[in-house]
Amino acid sequence: MTKQTPQPSFLASALLAWYPRHHRDLPWRHTRDPYAIWLSEVILQQTRVAQGLPYYNTFLAAYPTVQAMAAAPEAEVLRYWQGLGYYSRARNMHQTARQVVEEYGGHFPSAYVGLLQLRGIGPYTAAAIASFAFDEAVAVLDGNVYRVLARLFGLHSDIAAPSSRKEFQAVADQHIPATAPADFNQAIMEFGAIQCTPAKPDCLFCPMQASCWAFQHGQVALLPVKSKGKKARTRHFHYFVLRYGGLVYLRERGEKDIWQGLYDFALAETDAPELPPAELARHLEALGASLDTRQAAEPTAAYRHVLSHQKLEVRFHDLLLTEALPTATLRDLGLRAYSPAEIEALPKPQLIANYVEQNLKPR
Ligand code: ADE
Repeated sequence: MTKQTPQPSFLASALLAWYPRHHRDLPWRHTRDPYAIWLSEVILQQTRVAQGLPYYNTFLAAYPTVQAMAAAPEAEVLRYWQGLGYYSRARNMHQTARQVVEEYGGHFPSAYVGLLQLRGIGPYTAAAIASFAFDEAVAVLDGNVYRVLARLFGLHSDIAAPSSRKEFQAVADQHIPATAPADFNQAIMEFGAIQCTPAKPDCLFCPMQASCWAFQHGQVALLPVKSKGKKARTRHFHYFVLRYGGLVYLRERGEKDIWQGLYDFALAETDAPELPPAELARHLEALGASLDTRQAAEPTAAYRHVLSHQKLEVRFHDLLLTEALPTATLRDLGLRAYSPAEIEALPKPQLIANYVEQNLKPR
């Protein structure tokens, strides 16, 4: 059996001294409510602190408790999430809220292993909640923590490889002090976020410079090692913004592709960037769309939209109809005519929301 060191490690001492002097004052650092902490961590896995802050405040105002979130319709949760991207995270968050209410009486489990049982809660989020809300000494590992540990201890394993997690987790767990696990976890993430940054880390004023492997070996810029993921594929989308009588047709996106549960327009996907006029005519005929030909519809220039594994090139064709779409088309494609005010309230991919904002504002 290894003997537990009674003294905090040099890493814990340095971080716990650094943290009170340098950390940002953030609202989720003033609560012990596991629901609020969970919410903040789900948002912060998706975005940076500055962008995440207003979302955190909006969600907490709309849903002050896990019961309130669980009771909300999914479309409303997605609408509040709009702009953050990766919407399956929002759907999972909502389902987790329902699970906490239905299976746990509205109380988050109070230990790491129990938290891991929840749908959509992985090791990172479980460690964050367990330490911040319940003072359990289990170390968080996020991108910031990987970077700090890789540099400090000269760990060269590829942090993109799942097998590296064990190694990094063991090192972090060795240093987290039982007396201040919450502050240690906040501190190491904060240190990575504002001092030991990916580019231009502030090594000159680093309290751990003397014991930092990467600094001492001139390898700060080389660590952590992270292999590149798959190259993103490019997809070409042509949206048909079909308008009739002041209304516009949209549909809810289905499963098995991006943006499940969000609303967009009738869509043709092509291999080439352009949609030749004959192809456009063929699509419109298939939709049963009778076009007002006085309105010459030039598609918009391509909007570029980058997702984690896909690059989208998207053009919008603004098309005025002389008749409503046939009911068969509505049924087959799930399209429905919406007023501008209704469209505003629907959850939409940011790209669609931007188009609506610029072209279909309620008057
Ligand atoms: N990123 C992830 N979790 C965070 C937290 N609790 N504070 C600041 N940034 C974070």
